[in-house]
Amino acid sequence: VDCVGQVRVAVVGLGYWGPNLVRVIHELPEAEVVAICDLRGERLEHVGRLYPGAERTRDLTSLLEDPKIDAIVVATPVTTHFEIAAAALEAGKHVLVEKPMAACSEEALALVALADAKGLVLMPGHTFVYSPSVNLVRDLIRSGDLGEVYFVSSSRVNLGIHQPDVSVIWDLGPHEFSILRYWLGENPESASAVTRSCVIPGVPDVAFVTLEYASGTVANIELAWLSPSKLRRTTVAGSRKMVVYDDTSNEPVRVFDAGVDLPEPRGFEQYRLSYRTGDIVSPAVSTVEPLMLELADFCRSIVSGGEPRSSASLGIDVIRTIELVERVTVAAGGRSA
Ligand SMILES: NC(=O)c1ccc[n+]([C@@H]2O[C@H](COP(=O)([O-])OP(=O)(O)OC[C@H]3O[C@@H](n4cnc5c(N)ncnc54)[C@H](O)[C@@H]3O)[C@@H](O)[C@H]2O)c1
Repeated sequence: VDCVGQVRVAVVGLGYWGPNLVRVIHELPEAEVVAICDLRGERLEHVGRLYPGAERTRDLTSLLEDPKIDAIVVATPVTTHFEIAAAALEAGKHVLVEKPMAACSEEALALVALADAKGLVLMPGHTFVYSPSVNLVRDLIRSGDLGEVYFVSSSRVNLGIHQPDVSVIWDLGPHEFSILRYWLGENPESASAVTRSCVIPGVPDVAFVTLEYASGTVANIELAWLSPSKLRRTTVAGSRKMVVYDDTSNEPVRVFDAGVDLPEPRGFEQYRLSYRTGDIVSPAVSTVEPLMLELADFCRSIVSGGEPRSSASLGIDVIRTIELVERVTVAAGGRSA
């Protein structure tokens, strides 16, 4: 951290997502972008033109040897996360690594052990746990307003972007699995899934996943890189109320005072269900950018200590959920994935 208390950050990987991280770090009063790194010269050129104060390099090792750099933010493809994050930790740098934290739980655990041994912050980039809408729904669940959470049903689909190195479960799944872990406070006990590799052989681009939790909650998640329109829609059906969270809407959270009651059946009388359809409330939701809150939390953990909300243990839980899902996945055509 420099003399004015700013965390000096280098961003590695300037493809689709990296430039967003560079922009937000640049805007944050707590941090400063001191260097940017990509193997591709044209990406360095493109991003570097917007941030002329940042040093440009294609060579990660030069950043690791630079004592001016406190932290490395990694936005490279998933299969490179472990190697880059491990090298950065070895060199004594704090690390924020994009989701999913690594390509398997062994790698993720090794990164955690390394960060602990060195006393450094290791944070996965689970942006949605900073979303004001996601936090509003979490408060509704945790306060008991929704009652028992019967089920969650979610669609996260759009056209692209096909990742070269991982399936749609590794790419879009982490968002859903981190949100569910954050809302429900538990990990799934069992799962089932069907996938199909529609475009690239062996790279599933559509997945239908179901998860079962010890509490009784069940979840159904649709993930796809092949959809004509973008959907980010989740329904949480509780015994008292229901919520629809739609991240693409200007009313992202709607709370329905709706449900069905089953009065105690008396004697041989038949069950009579009573349906409730009351008010629909759309609470005001802060428009602060979740990525801004995420990076501020990263800087806070570095400067003041304490676990970030997007913790390494959340990162490991997300990867374990992906691995659970992959173990039970059946690829279309009846082949085991
Ligand atoms: N948190 C979010 O909401 C969010 C959104 C999108 C993507 N992501 C994550 O961000 C990461 C990157 O995704 P993307 O879509 O931007 O990928 P991308 O392929 O568009 O970009 C990756 C970049 O990394 C560079 N690169 C690869 N290896 C490198 C190395 N060793 N040193 C320096 N540069 C290297 C590539 O040249 C490329 O420019 C993934 O982990 C993805 O899951 C997160």
